[in-house]
Amino acid sequence: MHSLNLGIIGAGLMGREVAAAAARGFVLEGFPVKLNVIAVSDIDPERLDWFTRVPGVRMLTRHYRELLEMPEVDAVYAAVPHHLHEEVYLDCLEAGKDLLAEKPFGMDLRAARSIRDTAQRLGRFVRVSSEFPFYPGAQQAYQLAAAGGLGTLLEVRAGFLHSSDLDPNKPINWKRQALTCGAIGVMGDLGLHVTHLPLRLGWRPDTVYAQLQKVYTRRPDGLGGMAACDTWDNALLHANVTDRGRTFPMTMEMKRISPGESNTWYFHAVGTQGGVRYSTKEPKTLWTFAGGKDQAWQRRDLGFRSCFPTITGSIFEPGFPDCLLQMLAAFAWERAGIPGCPFPCATPDEAVASHALFAAALASHHSASVATPESSGTGAVPLLAKAV
Ligand SMILES: NC(=O)c1ccc[n+]([C@@H]2O[C@H](COP(=O)([O-])OP(=O)(O)OC[C@H]3O[C@@H](n4cnc5c(N)ncnc54)[C@H](O)[C@@H]3O)[C@@H](O)[C@H]2O)c1
Repeated sequence: MHSLNLGIIGAGLMGREVAAAAARGFVLEGFPVKLNVIAVSDIDPERLDWFTRVPGVRMLTRHYRELLEMPEVDAVYAAVPHHLHEEVYLDCLEAGKDLLAEKPFGMDLRAARSIRDTAQRLGRFVRVSSEFPFYPGAQQAYQLAAAGGLGTLLEVRAGFLHSSDLDPNKPINWKRQALTCGAIGVMGDLGLHVTHLPLRLGWRPDTVYAQLQKVYTRRPDGLGGMAACDTWDNALLHANVTDRGRTFPMTMEMKRISPGESNTWYFHAVGTQGGVRYSTKEPKTLWTFAGGKDQAWQRRDLGFRSCFPTITGSIFEPGFPDCLLQMLAAFAWERAGIPGCPFPCATPDEAVASHALFAAALASHHSASVATPESSGTGAVPLLAKAV
């Protein structure tokens, strides 16, 4: 039995979610790594205080470097505002810790490359958080596409839609300001969730044409005044992708203001021989198209078929906390050097390739023309666990 002692830096929304997922690690059946959260850091004492309810936590500190000095911490899960990613992630790596980094993996392409290259130089194990591909339906869609069962690809659509920012009276926070969220705005917030599966399938955009929208330019500052809200709210990216010598269109949608949607992640791919559609709006439903004479999409209830088996009954529905646990399990499995990880977490190269796409999208929008993403710097994005 291996163990993974995690330190958490950033005890906000995601810090709490990951602590909760790790604490549920015992539901993983026959899993060879024990997950322990042993230290937490946040500058906000109230947020730290919440972690007194988490069993096994031995250190609560307002100074994350104290957490990094703790020899028992094997790896850090870091979930801080985007402008802090580079500094905090590099400090983790320099302190000899492995890292489960939150997306977008730095504010911009330069920062993402710097983190990726430092991890390579120091030989640290680093993965990036992207949990939606761990939904059983997303896994099935991936396997179908990876196995080449779709024939010549005709069209791919992937997206992640929220509507939490539809309310103009919602007070501003760091996610709505370019200084702390990054110039890429919503692409930094939601983008890697959208690009992860396509990149894993080797569908790397050759070119992109982007339409970006700022819907509300001012929001209440929470202190009785108004503050500039200067990030992109919505992004629609039209890409050309080449797969096996044939080019097809891929549309990627990332929206904070999408009426009717609360946390909808979807992946649709259609080819000459088949198609697949999955959306977290219907978390247990997979749609497939088998081709042939009948123009019929088939709907299947999937139930709970996770990458890493758990005690959960096979007829039950999966949800966000389940996927987060599956993603943590993938991180722990790969980090322990156990071969055959069913679906590895997003890699630093994939995060860098996403940033290259988002940088090109910004350029495209500003010039109202098609742009070409820069190379990620280490050649092609690795195809991991590609099915045959
Ligand atoms: N994977 C996902 O589904 C998902 C969902 C939401 C957010 N995120 C990502 O997670 C990260 C954090 O987002 P969030 O929603 O949890 O934000 P949040 O604002 O809820 O939490 C961030 C926390 O970082 C703390 N912090 C700031 N400076 C710090 C420092 N120097 N040391 C320690 N703590 C510090 C803040 O006090 C806050 O508690 C971002 O990168 C975001 O993009 C991922």
